[in-house]
Amino acid sequence: MCVNFEIMEQRIIDNEWSFVGVNTKEYTHCYHNYPAMMIPQIARRLIKDYAPKDTKLIFDPYCGTGTTLVEAKLANINSTGTDLNPLAQLIARSKVKNYNIEKIINAKNLLSEESFKFSFNLQSEVDLYKFKNIEYWFSENVIKEISFLLNLIKSKFDKNIQDFFLVALSETVREASYTRNSEFKLYRIQKHKIANYKPDTFGLFFNKLNRNISGLKDLTKTGANTKINIYDFNTCNQNPKEIMKQEIDFVVTSPPYGDSRTTVAYGQFSRLSNQWLGIENASQIDNILMGGSKNHKEIEFTSKYAQKELDKIKNIDVKRYNDVKEFLIDYENSINNVSNSIRKNGRIAYVVGNRTVKGIQIPLDYITVELFEKNEFKHLKTIVREIPNKRMPKENSPTNKIGVKSKTMSNEYIVIMEKQ
Ligand SMILES: C[S@@+](CC[C@H](N)C(=O)[O-])C[C@H]1O[C@@H](n2cnc3c(N)ncnc32)[C@H](O)[C@@H]1O
Repeated sequence: MCVNFEIMEQRIIDNEWSFVGVNTKEYTHCYHNYPAMMIPQIARRLIKDYAPKDTKLIFDPYCGTGTTLVEAKLANINSTGTDLNPLAQLIARSKVKNYNIEKIINAKNLLSEESFKFSFNLQSEVDLYKFKNIEYWFSENVIKEISFLLNLIKSKFDKNIQDFFLVALSETVREASYTRNSEFKLYRIQKHKIANYKPDTFGLFFNKLNRNISGLKDLTKTGANTKINIYDFNTCNQNPKEIMKQEIDFVVTSPPYGDSRTTVAYGQFSRLSNQWLGIENASQIDNILMGGSKNHKEIEFTSKYAQKELDKIKNIDVKRYNDVKEFLIDYENSINNVSNSIRKNGRIAYVVGNRTVKGIQIPLDYITVELFEKNEFKHLKTIVREIPNKRMPKENSPTNKIGVKSKTMSNEYIVIMEKQ
């Protein structure tokens, strides 16, 4: 096995970055659950300790629900994020927006009065939402109640505040559905439990709303006010600098660590919400995310670590080899485009996981270092942290022995590099 000892030596195990027992739900970070969210304290510390001097723009190419963007705002730095999942964009937009709280509270009171009246007259007319298999995932009552709330939000509220309510409704959709809430993938609860499953849709919704209003108040009190843009472009085939018309000073991100189908199914997690929100092709999102393509063309990888481990997987299972290969092709293209958009002496901080496929560990932190080095970045360090808080499948280990299988993924690698 060829191991680059320089990269290994830059790996520093630091349990201070585990942030055990901290509150990860401060400010608007309390909104909406999402798979593999970054812990705000990581983005906060990265910005504090590693943002280049005079940083004007922080970028997150996989912004998810906007953890980095909220932290950039708190640090008083402008930021931009992109994500291909419409639900993630909605949550991120809502988390960073400067809403007028009074307007939000008035709107909540109106919803509350109308829902109260509705509860006592369930027969009242509602324009029911429809999409494929809606009855498979929701009871008749829940369909009626969510349709009622959605109609009110869309018809009565100013466009400016609609997102705030849609975020709370999206979380309600998931919890009031027949999905097993302990899973990110879409699985229905057992048949015999369905008859007894009578969720309190309005109760769930107003609980979320109250919690989110409290988070919003805390964020508003900080007085933070920066420029934040959230896009839906794909850095695998688009150059951020061309879209943003500005160079990036610092990238803080947690990319997926494999294709959605075999790792974290962001699309499946979001599907019912996206369907209620009227997103076209809501069931196809996992296919457009990193590694979702089925091109299966053979390429020579720039990263020797990627090539080496892929060759091993190919000998064991060609299908899994193709999954990993497609992901790594996208990852490399994305890093090339991101690198190209960063200014001289700008930096990147990539928080990655090293998954194990067929007993072979994919050293995504080494691959990240190699790919950025090819783009003239210098490796500053890789911080190895334990992940006590993050909700994601457990798979790998902190060992420096690439390829050695271990049972659980309890570590994350924060790769920090600087453009020369
Ligand atoms: C680990 S999550 C990011 C979580 C985020 N840091 C947070 O705290 O919510 C990775 C995200 O990458 C997104 N994604 C996957 N492929 C993408 C692509 N090609 N371009 C943009 N976003 C992508 C997924 O939709 C998902 O939201």
